[in-house]
Amino acid sequence: MTNKIWLCLAHMSEAGEEMKYIKEAFDTNWVVPLGPNVNGFEADLEEFVNTLNDGRKIEKSVVALSAGTAAIHLALVALDIKNGDEVICQSFTFAASANPVVYQGATPVFVDSEPGTWNMDPNLLEYAIKDRISKGKKPKAIIPVYLYGMPAYIDEIMEIANRYEIPVLEDAAEGFGSRYRGQVCGTFGKYGVMSFNGNKMITTSGGGALICPNEEAAKRILFYATQAREPLPYYQHEHIGYNYRMSNICAGIGRGQMTIVDDHLAHHIHAKDRYVEGLANVDGITVHVAPEDYMEPNYWLNTIIVEPKKFGMDYDQLRLNLDAANIESRPLWKPMHMQPVYKDAPAYVNGVSETLFKKGLCLPSGPMVTDEDLAYIIETIQKAKR
Ligand SMILES: Cc1ncc(COP(=O)(O)O)c(C=O)c1O
Repeated sequence: MTNKIWLCLAHMSEAGEEMKYIKEAFDTNWVVPLGPNVNGFEADLEEFVNTLNDGRKIEKSVVALSAGTAAIHLALVALDIKNGDEVICQSFTFAASANPVVYQGATPVFVDSEPGTWNMDPNLLEYAIKDRISKGKKPKAIIPVYLYGMPAYIDEIMEIANRYEIPVLEDAAEGFGSRYRGQVCGTFGKYGVMSFNGNKMITTSGGGALICPNEEAAKRILFYATQAREPLPYYQHEHIGYNYRMSNICAGIGRGQMTIVDDHLAHHIHAKDRYVEGLANVDGITVHVAPEDYMEPNYWLNTIIVEPKKFGMDYDQLRLNLDAANIESRPLWKPMHMQPVYKDAPAYVNGVSETLFKKGLCLPSGPMVTDEDLAYIIETIQKAKR
């Protein structure tokens, strides 16, 4: 065993569709942050996010951007988040979910998770909203996350958000293609974020997109993503803009990736099935699966909880065992309320994300992970048990 097994590496189509679109861009000299691949990729994404399991359609618009982080930032700009505002963020996440709040001079208010989905706890969310209002500041937005591709209890979150009239920005960076009651995650709130970083469900090498409520909102995002230039023959600026548009080369990769998105989704779910089956009888190991049958996670990264007393070692000792066997694994995200950089941010915690952080590991799940690799990972975990 010489080759390392990684969590989730980029994987291109066998047919070389990505190269076809890139070559087309070179041949036609569309080597700029706009062009036919950008338009084509946006159309593919719109078709994908707007189609429900039962064939019904919704009508969201998608803007392709340079990163998922840029998409979160632009949504906050569009929601008019300013200096001194507060935004409710899921604590259990990657820092990019919350950092753009600080770019705007606003303060993230962290809310912990519930144990079923590991995502934002709706009860704690309502408690936090009431408490912030009682302190004189109504939160200006809510950012729930689809961590590791697991749907959140989005109906409950939307009901609370609507009742308090607070817009929701869904961070579906890890949840591309996950569904909730047959509808794609990222299409429930006002805005939804996608990421096409190299380690995601599909990639453009680096990139992201924002799902917008309609064409008009998408036009506004496009305006801010391209330096906020007023429609005049000379350059006039009445707002601060950003250089966040996706390049036509990256979008070519994205168009190619959309031809195999269903294969990628099937692969991650297949890896989940193998882990569930192979680790079922290993005392002290639990594979994290959807708590409800109306949730369809993409299983971007499959995750396990290690109970040290039952398994005979903790998650970090298991991580070192896997590393010695040339298998990459990674502790779960360290919650934002435990991060030094956010030590002064208000936080509403219940112990769930802290416990998960101290017990969990992500396992290799991407399309480059073969059935032999999965069997080897499972065997390595079985052998590590004391
Ligand atoms: C939960 C979450 N939010 C946001 C991002 C940011 O996406 P990007 O890397 O495309 O900027 C990522 C991943 O990188 C993520 O995992």
